[in-house]
Amino acid sequence: MIQNVRGTRDLLPDQTKGWQFLEQLFASVAERFGYAEIRTPIFELTEVFTRTIGENTDVVSKEMYTFTDRGDNSITLRPEMTAGAVRAAVQHNLTATGQLQRLWYIGAQFRYERPQAGRYRQFYQCGAECYNTPYPEADAEMIMFAATVLEECGIKDYTLKINTLGSQECRQQYITALTEYLEQKKEELSEDSRVRLTKNPLRILDSKDRGDIAILKEAPILADFLSEESKIHFDKVLKLLEKNGFSYYIETKLVRGLDYYSHTVFEFASNAIGSQDALGGGGRYNTMFEYFGGKSTPSVGFSLGMDRMILVLQQLRPEIFNQTIVDCYIVALDRSVGEFVQRLAMGMRKEGKRVITDLQYRSLKAQMREANKIGAKTVIVIGEEEMKTGTYKVKNMEDGTELIIE
Ligand code: HAM
Repeated sequence: MIQNVRGTRDLLPDQTKGWQFLEQLFASVAERFGYAEIRTPIFELTEVFTRTIGENTDVVSKEMYTFTDRGDNSITLRPEMTAGAVRAAVQHNLTATGQLQRLWYIGAQFRYERPQAGRYRQFYQCGAECYNTPYPEADAEMIMFAATVLEECGIKDYTLKINTLGSQECRQQYITALTEYLEQKKEELSEDSRVRLTKNPLRILDSKDRGDIAILKEAPILADFLSEESKIHFDKVLKLLEKNGFSYYIETKLVRGLDYYSHTVFEFASNAIGSQDALGGGGRYNTMFEYFGGKSTPSVGFSLGMDRMILVLQQLRPEIFNQTIVDCYIVALDRSVGEFVQRLAMGMRKEGKRVITDLQYRSLKAQMREANKIGAKTVIVIGEEEMKTGTYKVKNMEDGTELIIE
């Protein structure tokens, strides 16, 4: 039997209601924050991602689905949405005159990672980006937008981890100091971290290796390298969150896996879903537009991992996964009344009712059982008599009352 590719999943009818719930909820929160939807292609020229996400990140160096198409172009299935959205914004002049631009998106992403619960090779993100404002108010708006989505889903016990990477200059100075320190301990570092030391030293801060963690205890910390301006920016973000009642946890080792960030970075984690606990993340990125030939455009954004949110929702709110609402189930006693039943159903659907008929002409008992099972609000039984007279009863399944329609 041919099966789906490892790391991909079929979302079957017993799950898709939950996905629709999440998609609709996200779009509704986005509208309330004044964001407009953008849809960009699922694949882009490879350089869209390599130049922005960074050659030495795991995403670019190990996880991209890259291939050469028949026109000899290097193409990559998008591993995230931020770079493609900026490419589109520059191409279509969405920010050229300096205007604020608020965009949201939902879609499939592709990363060649080792599949496990909550980690797939085709996964889904919903997210948003805000272009053309350097102010910390925008960072706070983004975090509050994402947090509102989680809260309206009913996910209340998430942790918001936040950190600042400072400006590009602060970050560079810090990387130099960190590298100098770690060079001295090189022999004691894990193999992964030794490779990272030359390629992407900041990521060593993320290491889960015990030996690395011990070495990092004495390492220089980013906070000591922040400029006054960076500190003021970060403090203001924190203050805005507090004023709006959002609690956070400052995680000084949070650096995120993509290279484009500066200043604020954040992640939402859940303790309900095991090791892949990051529900989403984001941060400020002020220099991406230049890669695509655009003007300097300070920006901030976030993405939520929908697959992981679904895992939480399955535990928290199983009821949203089986919400088929059926207003009426029309039972046909025999196929000879099938045409009449179908016309009756069509008329009711045109009036906005959700109506189901049996297309297998099973017994009355079997049809009634199904009507009950799916929770139909009303049932109409049509036989020869009803068809001839045009008079039939609508039975209310909740209270058992019957209404005669002539
Ligand atoms: P990210 O942290 O790489 O950020 O991904 C965001 C979220 O996508 C993760 O927290 C996780 O929930 C989900 N995710 C990532 N990889 C997988 C996977 N293999 N399987 C299932 N879920 C996954 C970004 O992508 C940035 N573009 C966020 C951003 C937007 N920054 C600024 N604007």
